[in-house]
Amino acid sequence: GKGLAVFTSGGDSQGMNAAVRAVVRMGVYLGCKVYFIHEGYQGMVDGGPHIEEAQWSSVSSIIHKGGTVIGSARCMDFKERAGRLKACKNLVDCGISNLVCIGGDGSLTGANLFREEWSSLLDELLQKGEIDKEKHGKNQKLHIVGLVGSIDNDFCGTDMTIGTDSALHRIIEAIDAISSTAYSHRRTFILEVMGRHCGYLAVVTALASEATMVFIPEKPDRVDWADRLCEKLIQERNAGQRLSIIIVAEGAVDMEGKPITAEMVKEIVVTNLQQDTRVTVLGHVQRGGNPSAFDRILGSRMGAEAVMALMEADENTDACVISLVGNQAVRLPLMECVKRTKAVAQAMAEKRWDEAVEMRGKS
Ligand code: F6P
Repeated sequence: GKGLAVFTSGGDSQGMNAAVRAVVRMGVYLGCKVYFIHEGYQGMVDGGPHIEEAQWSSVSSIIHKGGTVIGSARCMDFKERAGRLKACKNLVDCGISNLVCIGGDGSLTGANLFREEWSSLLDELLQKGEIDKEKHGKNQKLHIVGLVGSIDNDFCGTDMTIGTDSALHRIIEAIDAISSTAYSHRRTFILEVMGRHCGYLAVVTALASEATMVFIPEKPDRVDWADRLCEKLIQERNAGQRLSIIIVAEGAVDMEGKPITAEMVKEIVVTNLQQDTRVTVLGHVQRGGNPSAFDRILGSRMGAEAVMALMEADENTDACVISLVGNQAVRLPLMECVKRTKAVAQAMAEKRWDEAVEMRGKS
């Protein structure tokens, strides 16, 4: 059977284990030799015990666990050709020519570069006599499929990334807890949520928690945001509301592109309205804990589809990413999606926010 390996790279997210499990189970079912690569690209470079054959039973009882049981890391070595050469040798030694990479856009870009370099890496290893000419002299290809694991939902091409739904559950749970104490003391709470340069988590939680206002990276509020916020807070209190919730995405910016932080918002509320105000930064709680049912199913569907895509790949197949489009798990060209994701980041950096939002919205 074909040699296939799965690894997780970059920041973890809930549901990655479901994806790892599905890759192993589908791979074994289809007669592949399946490997785990522990600790992401670092494990691929270091080899040895980091590349371990997986059995059907190796992935029992992991579907409900948060994080990634095979470990993840950010790897500097893989950014250098020398590191990728080592990784190539380690994969060849195990007979692995199919990879499922579960990570964000950076990790997937690295996988694609590796794939493009593959034949020249093989040539170098052959010349150095480090790999077997008989077995590897043929024009072998490395096939890769990407799955996006990230709580940020910041990847173009997929409706949802693995982990976003669980992070939303966690945030809502935290807001509900905060709301009860806020209600008792008639307080205003400002919550900072994650998402890097994407406001998805912030917008959805603001809608679901009837927040007074939300600050996000993509759509800076008008220049008079501070006045509008105070007006709205006064209105709410006059209408008898006992508490107010304000959501600030960690990457929120103003019209000039300068950060809007939870502390800044608090300062405005306290100075202008003298409201009893607290800040809560949710942090990594959002990325921890058990995956939701949605993320378990999403990870499972994407993992299974990834193996199918690898099994059907031939000489001319380009790298793909498994995406969720209208509740279907589909294969999209990896680099097109990565390019669009980078174009969104670029548009935001250049303050072309409307364009960024439009680009991200397209599937
Ligand atoms: O990309 C996921 C994410 O949790 C972002 O929301 C956040 O900005 C970042 O990772 C935090 O990174 P780290 O775990 O390295 O602190």
